[in-house]
Amino acid sequence: MTKPRKRYEDLRSYRWYGVDDLRSFGHRSRTLQMGYSREDWAGKPVIGIVNTWSEINPCHSHFKQRAEEVKRGIWQAGGFPVEMPAISLSEPMQKPTTMLYRNLLAMECEELLRSYPCDGAVLMGGCDKTTPALLMGAASMNIPSIFVPAGPMLRGNWRGKSLGSGSDTWKYWAELKVGNITRKDWDEIEDGIARTPGTCMTMGTAPTMMSSAEALGMTLPGASAIPAADSNHARMASLTGRRIVDMVWEDLTPTDVMTEQAFENAITVVMALGGSTNAAVHLVAMAGRLGVPIDLERFDAISRRTPWLADIRPSGRFLMEDFYYAGGLPAMMSELKDKLHLDAVTVSGKTLGEDIADADVYNEEVIHRAKSPLSAEGGLATLRGNLAPDGAVIKQSACDPSLLKHTGPAVVFKDYNDMSARVDDPDLDVTKDSVLILQNAGPQGGPGMPEWGMLPIPKKILETGVRDMVRISDARMSGTSYGTCVLHVAPESFVGGPLALVKDGDMVTLDVQERILRVEITEEEMAKRKAAWTPPQRKFERGFGQIYANHITQADKGCDFDVLMGTAPTPEPEIH
Ligand code: FES
Repeated sequence: MTKPRKRYEDLRSYRWYGVDDLRSFGHRSRTLQMGYSREDWAGKPVIGIVNTWSEINPCHSHFKQRAEEVKRGIWQAGGFPVEMPAISLSEPMQKPTTMLYRNLLAMECEELLRSYPCDGAVLMGGCDKTTPALLMGAASMNIPSIFVPAGPMLRGNWRGKSLGSGSDTWKYWAELKVGNITRKDWDEIEDGIARTPGTCMTMGTAPTMMSSAEALGMTLPGASAIPAADSNHARMASLTGRRIVDMVWEDLTPTDVMTEQAFENAITVVMALGGSTNAAVHLVAMAGRLGVPIDLERFDAISRRTPWLADIRPSGRFLMEDFYYAGGLPAMMSELKDKLHLDAVTVSGKTLGEDIADADVYNEEVIHRAKSPLSAEGGLATLRGNLAPDGAVIKQSACDPSLLKHTGPAVVFKDYNDMSARVDDPDLDVTKDSVLILQNAGPQGGPGMPEWGMLPIPKKILETGVRDMVRISDARMSGTSYGTCVLHVAPESFVGGPLALVKDGDMVTLDVQERILRVEITEEEMAKRKAAWTPPQRKFERGFGQIYANHITQADKGCDFDVLMGTAPTPEPEIH
């Protein structure tokens, strides 16, 4: 696959800086205006650093400094770094959900790289949607690109107990509700659960997608698990800056790296991690940008053949800091060698097999050996049936095993507000065997498929000691959540999918082993209800929301915009 080495005249930036015309006078004089000298750029690749730092994103609060470390590496290797801020999707802050804006960041990344004189890109992300968004944008632009994962924060701490992002929030909130911990305890947990920069440190969407980026070959080997606060993280940032300059001369592009084999590697890693269900949306969307045909069936087939190895919350016991000390992703991948495409090329310029050749597991409690997995199958399963003709997903590793095969009567909430108003009502007709259903929480209905899929257990059921029930929605669920939650039901209820037609008392069957999700009503009854169904009112009359509503696809297609999918060529901007 070796390509001819690029010459300076071949670079995109040459059209801005290298030619001698009226426009290039402007480019050069305006760069000189900032105090740079011609020596700073002449003959060098321009590297765009797409930085999602923001004061409202705690997961990226170290990115201002990390961008300087990336620049150090770029200067060292003979490149010209240009930092370009992009919208920061801050999971804990943005409403209704960052998922509404993933495609906006992807578009911004792509168009920043296209409209400016970038020869290569360093992508700085990590908080949930930022990773897929930046990789989607870079894939569509297809100039040499490399990802700097934000890295997880250190373990949370409360009275000597380790606390995990999200997971322990849900757990202790339930205990507070039923009086098992005090208000003071809760306040102390709030003080201790997030105490350094970095992403969530449970195997939520952020570590899942940062690990996916590494397994895809888009980060330096071992980068994804380095805690944000560790000095190795700063060194990784500098090394990344050095590497991207070489990648430009080598013309190593995202389409060379993110191949079908690379996506299979990423899905395999997600399964072995017990990773977030959100991966089933994001990896499908990312693959769609590269013309790689990945669907939910591929996830399911890979899940069935991949052992679950990483004992990390919410499915397991440990946290990302422990995973890093146990050897990180290269160590886990070294246990999966017979399941991975080891000849896939990574941004290192070597193969995945070469990248992980020396890796080993240092703590077999945290990263299990393949011969003694936590379970023989991966963490996610894809379900189908008359309730989800286009599929749904469940994180089987985070369910109460007794609920993996279950039939019970539906308790239906027509939307999130209805659920909030009634779920703790003492008169709600619900038992521990009921199946809780949330409608109108999908891509259009939420909008943005908010992470509402871990429906709260009704208080009166919690008080009996029950901590899990079957819950079904077209929403997503935080990767830090747990429980028997069927998610991403497609098509969604807002557009008339069968989930919209379920009524209180209908019997609903979940059978994870058989991959079935079914409502026990006849086809005739389903057709009658469908004929009587009226579509809800559209949510947006103007603005980005209307663009979103006009172009968003369903969960099984990755929720990309239809106009952004595919590999049709986009012209380079004209010189003038
Ligand atoms: Fe940013 Fe979890 S909130 S990664």
